[in-house]
Amino acid sequence: MAMSHSLPPLFFFMMLLVQAMAGGIDLNWYDAHATFYGDAAGGGTMQGACGYGDLFKQGYGLATTALSTALYNNGLTCGACFQIMCVNDPLWCIKGATPITVTATNLCPPNYSKTTDAWCNPPRKHFNLSYKMFTSIAGVKAGVIPVRYRRVSCVKSGGVRLELKGNPYFLMVLVYNVANAGDVSNVSIKGSKTGWLTMTHNSGQVWHINQVLVGQSLSFLVTTSDGKALTFSFVAPSNWQFGQTYESKQNF
Ligand SMILES: *[C@@H]1O[C@H](CO)[C@@H](O)[C@H](O)[C@H]1NC(C)=O
Ligand SMILES: *[C@@H]1O[C@H](CO)[C@@H](O)[C@H](O)[C@H]1NC(C)=O
Ligand SMILES: *[C@@H]1O[C@H](CO)[C@@H](O)[C@H](O)[C@H]1NC(C)=O
Repeated sequence: MAMSHSLPPLFFFMMLLVQAMAGGIDLNWYDAHATFYGDAAGGGTMQGACGYGDLFKQGYGLATTALSTALYNNGLTCGACFQIMCVNDPLWCIKGATPITVTATNLCPPNYSKTTDAWCNPPRKHFNLSYKMFTSIAGVKAGVIPVRYRRVSCVKSGGVRLELKGNPYFLMVLVYNVANAGDVSNVSIKGSKTGWLTMTHNSGQVWHINQVLVGQSLSFLVTTSDGKALTFSFVAPSNWQFGQTYESKQNF
């Protein structure tokens, strides 16, 4: 770039910003705070508002976090991955600790009757980390720590998984093990005898539709927050069952 020296600094700043947004997710660093919940073995951090179940079986393990309302986005941020480091707390931050990478699996619920330490109330950005993740960047007695965080691509093994739930008249699907952006923003479903039908966001990463699709093979069109879409054709065979999980051959 022979001409580059003549371009104003703002140009380079904008180039960096564009690069950071290139994947469709904002990869810039932001400030927040963090606490922890549950115990070292993961007790207390399983299940959660996002709709996931046994986080070990589902591949999330202990590398998880609950998000405050401001980050949770009504559950649509569930599945997103964050890199987090402890900052500006010389007493409690573990020096030289590798930043942690966690998947959002829960909501840290707001408590509007709290007048102090209402860390999870809007507009605060707060991570309620698993014990294991918190203690790998800070001392357990720290209480609340200041952190810097950014979105990162989720690394998952295997394909996107779809757990079917509900009843014949109210079909729900939990979408999990989503790589890259990680957070699903739209789901459509197609029975072998129907056209594409838009599913309604239920809660967390659970989507639903009032349509009888029992006995039809099912295809899904899943879109993540970065705008990427994948079609999982006939991922569930016509004899699919409620409570079963179907894994696609693809991931984002
Ligand atoms: C973190 O989560 C636990 C369990 O839900 C909760 O008791 C605690 O209040 C949360 N932390 C904050 C700062 O709200
Ligand atoms: C909300 O905060 C109030 C005041 O601190 C406390 O008494 C109450 O137990 C909290 N509620 C929940 C559900 O944690
Ligand atoms: C899904 O897509 C539609 C149309 O593209 C959009 O209006 C809607 O807000 C999206 N998100 C959810 C959660 O349905």
